[in-house]
Amino acid sequence: MSERYDPSTEGAQMSFDGRMSYGDYLGLSTLLDAQHPISDAHDEMLFIIQHQTSELWMRLAIHELGAARATLRGDDMRPAFKMLTRVSRIFEQLNSAWDVLRTMTPSDYTTFRDTLGQSSGFQSHQYRQIEFILGNRNKAMVRPHAHRPDLMKLLDDELARKSLYDVALAALSETFPLPPEVLTRDTALPHAENEAVAEAWARVYRDPAAHWALYELAEKLVDLEDYFRRWRFNHVTTVERVIGFKRGTGGTGGVSYLKRMLDVELFPELWHLRTNL
Ligand code: HEM
Repeated sequence: MSERYDPSTEGAQMSFDGRMSYGDYLGLSTLLDAQHPISDAHDEMLFIIQHQTSELWMRLAIHELGAARATLRGDDMRPAFKMLTRVSRIFEQLNSAWDVLRTMTPSDYTTFRDTLGQSSGFQSHQYRQIEFILGNRNKAMVRPHAHRPDLMKLLDDELARKSLYDVALAALSETFPLPPEVLTRDTALPHAENEAVAEAWARVYRDPAAHWALYELAEKLVDLEDYFRRWRFNHVTTVERVIGFKRGTGGTGGVSYLKRMLDVELFPELWHLRTNL
């Protein structure tokens, strides 16, 4: 490109006096002023940005999951499908992001790990909100937010709402009626695997053509959980690679805690039916 090329000659806006610019619209001053490394360690900036970008993608995932839950209805699931697909793509994006963080070696991380104090992703209220929306509910996980009444309320409100899976089961129940213990369960608890739900989903999978929308819904949910599981796996593998079996800054056993979380099943009946098809 010629040095003398001036895009304004073909209409590029060059003056933003009193007009909204790109940076204004995106709040870039705030966004780019939110990275404050505490140490002089070179890699701390990577660590901060990796977490912040993850939180931004989580923000979008919550936006999509909340809307999918609100719009999911038995008679037209297509708008919800589109949103659920987007959430899976967000997790795929987050999964790729570990490749950047993995360039940080244990030697690099130890140069600033102590400056983190007790802060840890364990206290990510957005992550917890995503888990609660999906149905992995545990009231104990609200406690780290006791010092922030606004976040406590956000998570408590979530525990009082139906999960995405509850809403999916309500849609399933329109074709294959499900028992009251499934449809009117205590939303503060995690979903308990249920025989009637398993049988209803199995009937969908035995005859996809007759129940195409429910079949597609089931696969969207499995897709989502598949990507989410990969995120958990990538996280624990990265953690082991970087801190081995040290305790977490958040106080858990570290890798042992994260491995335990790999056993979580969000939509158990959808995974288990495959064995018997
Ligand atoms: C070198 C990088 C990282 C290390 C060593 C690490 C370590 C840990 C450890 C040990 C835990 C268990 C809780 C504790 O005791 O602290 C944890 C939890 C968690 N971390 Fe990370 N982490 C890293 C990067 C990330 C990134 C980039 C994110 C993205 C937001 C993240 C999000 C989370 C979340 C959400 C939890 C809670 C998981 C759950 O409760 O199931 N971590 N992390």
